Amino acid sequence: MNKRKYENSSNSSKKIKIKTKEIEDLETIEKTLSKEQKEIIDIVINQKKSLFFTGPGGCGKSYTLNFLIKKLYSVYEKHTIGVTASTALAALNIGGGTLHGFTGIGIMDKSFDDTITSIMDKTFIYNRLMGLKILIIDEISMINAETFDFIDEITRFIRSNDKPFVWNLIVEEYVYLKRMFRQQNEYFINGLNNLRLGKIDKDFLKYVKNLDREITYEDGCEPTKLFSTNKEVNICNMNKLNDIKGKTFMFKAQDWSVAQGNKSNNNYKRSHKDLIDWLDKSTLAEENLYLKIGADVLYLWNDKDDNRLVNGTEGKIVGFRSGKTVFREGVPDKVLSHSLIPIVKFKNIEEEVEVKQEIWQKKNNEGVLMVTRKQLPLKLKYGISIHKSQGMTIPMLEIDCKKVWQSEQIYVAFSRSVDPKNLRVKNFRAEKVKANEKVIKFMNEKFKNIF
Ligand SMILES: Nc1ncnc2c1ncn2[C@@H]1O[C@H](COP(=O)(O)OP(=O)(O)OP(=O)(O)O)[C@@H](O)[C@H]1O
Ligand SMILES: [Mg+2]
Repeated sequence: MNKRKYENSSNSSKKIKIKTKEIEDLETIEKTLSKEQKEIIDIVINQKKSLFFTGPGGCGKSYTLNFLIKKLYSVYEKHTIGVTASTALAALNIGGGTLHGFTGIGIMDKSFDDTITSIMDKTFIYNRLMGLKILIIDEISMINAETFDFIDEITRFIRSNDKPFVWNLIVEEYVYLKRMFRQQNEYFINGLNNLRLGKIDKDFLKYVKNLDREITYEDGCEPTKLFSTNKEVNICNMNKLNDIKGKTFMFKAQDWSVAQGNKSNNNYKRSHKDLIDWLDKSTLAEENLYLKIGADVLYLWNDKDDNRLVNGTEGKIVGFRSGKTVFREGVPDKVLSHSLIPIVKFKNIEEEVEVKQEIWQKKNNEGVLMVTRKQLPLKLKYGISIHKSQGMTIPMLEIDCKKVWQSEQIYVAFSRSVDPKNLRVKNFRAEKVKANEKVIKFMNEKFKNIF
């Protein structure tokens, strides 16, 4: 990764903005916590117990975690606290990394033995697993049992310790946060709470249907659009790209698979296309990536040399470099995309960054490399998938429910909103509202009289 300061860059003089949140005094934040949020801090800091806490989207789970983390840093050595979440975006929200990255299991494309070897090779991962005392995981609902079991086995082996590392066996306390912070509108909050349980009455259905109307925001601001499929996200992003003046460049990924070329050598009974599709499903790296100057992008890689540059970091394409020439306004027609290196100004990094290609790979269960993709770790960011939006607070929001394929998606999407005045809902259908019976049963068992 090359980072350069360009003399003519209008951004280079900007100072790194330190988030006010980060410099706020612990005592000041503590005063804002509700009684139930304070109870969580007490259980961890004073009672030194492990706990599972939950509550509706916007009740301040991540807010409480942010405070708890600061508090823990003031009590324990920093390297003994693991701050993680299931997705990179959710992790950014609490100043941590993904659980997968933190524990060294990556995208789980390696066998048990290979994962152990790779952790042993990376001293920093080995050391942090050995030194870990407290592990924090936000958005835990997106981590499945298989992943937990794998992490458990790996860490028990690494630490030569048979005690469960992460598993509900070690949860000692359960707390449910009831008070809502993200939204103020009582009618909306009540409707959302019902949606969470898979219920919707006629009145709220009518209310939601009426949320499908044009909204004009001040200063020409545009809402963030949520979709349930990546295909819809891609179409939205392409339309936005077309609205920006200038030439669009297509960056084609270099894909390779074990089934490519000589078919007689292919003992794996999977076609090249099948393997590419397999890779496609597990990576955000695009086969055909379209970029232009002025486009808003997300970074898709965890840079090992720079922990500010992680999967989910937001930025804008401010130019391209071709050889020694830097283009900031436009790129002449004769210049081809394969010679171009995107220059990106990321929100949290003062200097501009030249983004280089990275390699994604997938191995089969025996650890044999099956397929790889070499591509720029960038993606357009105008539309977001509901899956990725978990944990976000989105004041100006537009949700398209057309292709919703999982019942919980509706609640996740709706609960991102702050005020229904700034929420547009398209293609809503009541039959999509369902809740997982197992989850309701679990919640009823653990949190009596909540529902
Ligand atoms: N005690 C508090 N005082 C002031 N604001 C708060 C408090 N708790 C939460 N908030 C605010 O409420 C909003 C929602 O909080 P947060 O994102 O932590 O909710 P969450 O429960 O993690 O939601 P989700 O389930 O969507 O991840 C944020 O804007 C946060 O700053
Ligand atoms: Mg959260």
